[in-house]
Amino acid sequence: MDKLVIRGGNPLLGTVRISGAKNAALPCMAAALLTDEPVILENIPQVRDIETTRKLLAAMGAEVELGYGRAHHRTTICAHTLAAPEASYELVKTMRSSTLVLGPLVARCGRARVSLPGGCAIGARPIDLHIKGLERLGAKITQEHGYVEATTDPLKGDRLRGAEVVFDRITVTGTEDLLMAATLADGETVMQNCAREPEVADLAALLNAMGAKIQGAGTSTIRVKGVAKLHGARHRIIPDRIEAGTFIIAGALTGGDVNVAGCDPAHLTAILQKLAETGVKTSVKADSVRVMGDQPLAAADLNTEEYPGFPTDMQAQYMALTTQAAGTSIITENIFENRFMHAQELVRMGANIKIEGRRAIVRGGTPLSAAAVLASDLRASASLVLAALVADGETIIDRVYHLDRGYENIEEKLKGVGAEIRRVGNIFPKRAASPAQ
Ligand code: EPZ
Repeated sequence: MDKLVIRGGNPLLGTVRISGAKNAALPCMAAALLTDEPVILENIPQVRDIETTRKLLAAMGAEVELGYGRAHHRTTICAHTLAAPEASYELVKTMRSSTLVLGPLVARCGRARVSLPGGCAIGARPIDLHIKGLERLGAKITQEHGYVEATTDPLKGDRLRGAEVVFDRITVTGTEDLLMAATLADGETVMQNCAREPEVADLAALLNAMGAKIQGAGTSTIRVKGVAKLHGARHRIIPDRIEAGTFIIAGALTGGDVNVAGCDPAHLTAILQKLAETGVKTSVKADSVRVMGDQPLAAADLNTEEYPGFPTDMQAQYMALTTQAAGTSIITENIFENRFMHAQELVRMGANIKIEGRRAIVRGGTPLSAAAVLASDLRASASLVLAALVADGETIIDRVYHLDRGYENIEEKLKGVGAEIRRVGNIFPKRAASPAQ
């Protein structure tokens, strides 16, 4: 199992280039199931979740080419025939966003069998809102043996039908799942209380390029006029705003001067505003953010919210920053019920953090010292990398496969701006499994 070894203390200097957004690429790959023609997606990030999605689509019978040549990070997906509109537990348990195939499959094939995702490190993460939405569109849903089976009603022409849907709470992939299903429904669908994340708007841009008729994506009300068929298209995935935010914090935390290039600052407003509150200096251009870490950091409270609020996917990284800020920051996690797994690992490095339910109280200004730490989920891993960049000594981060799910070549990118970081295999001899383990 790979580990990252990071020696802290170097200010990061130079330019880092942002990859395509994993959370836009995943729904866009699922959207290819809606047509029997090829869909070409560019600026695909080379991360583990993309490979998992490739396997998922190929297992259904889609042809999926995936190439990361120097010039292009591109995938071509052709779901001409879908022999098995299913998503197995084996794959879904490694990536819960596999449930994004539910809507497209039932809309395109009239049936879908998708494993329930089960929980994950950051929370229960049910898909009840996906299911309720699809039932509003006329899908017949049963759940047994850990699987969701969705079918259209033969008495209604074996097709979903447009409807009014109001989400009980804002859900990103729930909005995306239903949006995809509605494109082939008979009639108009009006979805309210939708997620407004940029990744939803990016998916809608692809779907409209495929011939869908969607208005309002990126706002809380989305209208979809169903069409009989969608055709192929070519689409470039938006830059990853969470990767960009992570590197901006890396530049600030290490007292460096980093140009975060190839990002979309319009997606970073809440992040940049909060960082400005802590004293982080940035200068913003059309497709880049330069961060200058030459100012002392000051504490600032944080509430994670749905977009356009401060994203939950940046909470762990922000917590790492506040451990070095003068004063006390209160971080409230409003989206997921268990997203402080990184806190105890930061405490082992010397941070002063108390968890009270959904709140973390960070008393900053505590020097961090290197330690052997454990990554628990994608963004918690990023938080540990950030802490290691300023810790005294050499930090060893285990289970970095979590990090590889969503960050492309993170060690090369960090090395490129002066970090002392290397990836190693098992550096401790395998211990004989004792009965206690
Ligand atoms: C998406 O997950 C992202 N993943 C997550 O990013 C991100 O943290 C999350 O949105 C919130 O922004 C992808 O886009 C692939 P939700 P998603 O449905 O859609 C509850 C990362 O690090 N809920 O918006 O699964 C849910 O439990 C990942 O890149 C229901 O109760 O999140 C949560 O508390 C982690 N029922 C809240 O809503 C449902 O049917 C928001 O979840 C669906 C969700």
